[in-house]
Amino acid sequence: MKNPVIELLLDRRTVRDFTTQLVDDEALKLIIECGIHAPNSRNKQNWHFSVITNPKVIEEINRLTIAGMDRLGIKHEPDYHIFYHAPVVVIMSSVIEGFSELNCGCAVENMAIAAKSLGIDSCIVGQTRFMYHQADPIDINRIVKIPEGYEHDIAICFGYRNGDNPKVKPRREGIVDYIK
Ligand SMILES: Cc1cc2nc3c(=O)[nH]c(=O)nc-3n(C[C@H](O)[C@H](O)[C@H](O)COP(=O)(O)O)c2cc1C
Repeated sequence: MKNPVIELLLDRRTVRDFTTQLVDDEALKLIIECGIHAPNSRNKQNWHFSVITNPKVIEEINRLTIAGMDRLGIKHEPDYHIFYHAPVVVIMSSVIEGFSELNCGCAVENMAIAAKSLGIDSCIVGQTRFMYHQADPIDINRIVKIPEGYEHDIAICFGYRNGDNPKVKPRREGIVDYIK
C-alpha cells in the first residue's frame, strides 16, 4: 500500500547540513500554517512562532547559544553552528503551564512533516535554551520577539539539504507493548 503521509513520516530525518538556498515565502507560510493547526491542550493556542529569516538574527542566536554552552561547559566543535547554517529558524515560545512543552512539540513535528512534503528538510533544535545561560545583559526575548509572559520552548530550522537524506537510525527494540 502506498500512502504518501506514512512515507513522509518514515522518511523524515533530522538534517544537519543545509545549502544556502532560501525557502520562499509561500512555502514558509504553508509550513507555519501547519504548525498553528497542530493539536494543543484545551485549544488554548497560547504559543508563539518567531519565524526568523534575517541572517543577522540567526547568527546572533547562534552566538548567544554557543556562549551559553561554553559557560555551562558543554563541549562542541570550534566551528559548530546550532542551526547548521539553515536559512530559516522558528523559535517556539509559550505560556509555561500544563502541557505547553507537548503543545510546542506537536507544532514542530507538524511543521517538520509539512516542510518535508514540500522538499524542505529540518532539524528540531533544543539547544537554543542554552542562550539564556550566556553572561551579557542582553534582552534575548526582545531580539526574537517572544511576547511578554511567554518563555522560549524549542526551535526548529528549515532549509534545503546538502547531499542525501541521512540514513534512518536504528529504532530501539522492546519499546512497544500491544495490550489486546
Ligand atoms: C526535543 C528535541 C530536541 C532536539 N534538539 C536537537 C539539537 O539541539 N540539535 C540537533 O542537532 N538535533 C536535535 N534534535 C534532533 C534529534 O537528535 C533527532 O531527532 C534524533 O537523533 C533522531 O533522528 P531522526 O530525527 O533523524 O530520526 C532534537 C530533537 C528533539 C525531538
